[in-house]
Amino acid sequence: MIYRKICSAGVILLLFLVGRPFFPGPEGSRQTDPRRGREIYEEWCSQCHGKQGKGDGAAAARMYPKPRDFTHGAFKFRSTPSGELPTDQDLFRTITLGVPGTAMPGFDNLSRKDRWDLTAHIKTFSERFREETAPKAMAIGRSPKMTKARIERGRDVYVRKGQWIPGTFAADRKSPTSIEPCPQGSMGHPCLPIWMA
Ligand code: HEC
Repeated sequence: MIYRKICSAGVILLLFLVGRPFFPGPEGSRQTDPRRGREIYEEWCSQCHGKQGKGDGAAAARMYPKPRDFTHGAFKFRSTPSGELPTDQDLFRTITLGVPGTAMPGFDNLSRKDRWDLTAHIKTFSERFREETAPKAMAIGRSPKMTKARIERGRDVYVRKGQWIPGTFAADRKSPTSIEPCPQGSMGHPCLPIWMA
C-alpha cells in the first residue's frame, strides 16, 4: 500500500518536473498571443496610441505628454541602457502600473495573460523587436552619496546626453521657460522642462 502511494507520488512529481516546459504559464515561457493582444489593444489602447500604434488615436490630440508612438521602437521606461529596447518585463510593468502624472492608466483590471498578450502585440509595431534583442536589465547599485562633485558630474552627463532644455536647472533659470522644442528624443513633440533645484 505504502509502496503504491510512494510510486504514485513519484509519478506525479516526475510529471510535474518533466511536464513543466510543456505547460508553462505565460510569464515563464512568454507563450503569448499577439493576435489576441491586438483585439485587446483595439479595445483598450487604440483610442490613445492609435490603431497602427503611431500615437495618433482620437484622444491623443490634446494630451501632454503624447501617447507613445510604438513604431519608433523608442521607449522611456526601461531597465536597459539608454537607446536600447526595453525588456518584456519593462513593457508588462508599464502596462500594469501606468505612468502616474500622465494620461496613461494602469491596466491591472486586465488579466496577466491579457497584459502579456498586449506586450507581444506592442512589439509587432516596430521592426526593432524583430531585428534586435533587448539586453538584460541593468544592475542598479546602491544610491550614491550626494557630493558636490557628483552633482556637477551628473549635470554634465545630462546636458551632454541632449535631454537638457534651457532653464531646466534653477541656476540657469532667468525667466520662466515656456514649452520649448526638445533638442532630441521627444519625437518632434514639445518638451516641458521640469525645473530642478
Ligand atoms: C488615455 C490614453 C491612454 C490609453 C487608453 C493608453 N495609453 Fe499608453 N500611454 C499614454 C501616454 C500619454 C503615454 C506616455 C507617457 C509618457 O510619455 O510619460 C503612454 C505610454 C505607454 C507606454 C510606455 C512607453 C515607454 O516609452 O516606455 C506603454 C508601454 C503603453 N503606453 C502601453 C499602453 C497599452 C498596452 C494600453 C492599453 C492596454 C495603453 N497604453 C493605453 C496614454 C494612454
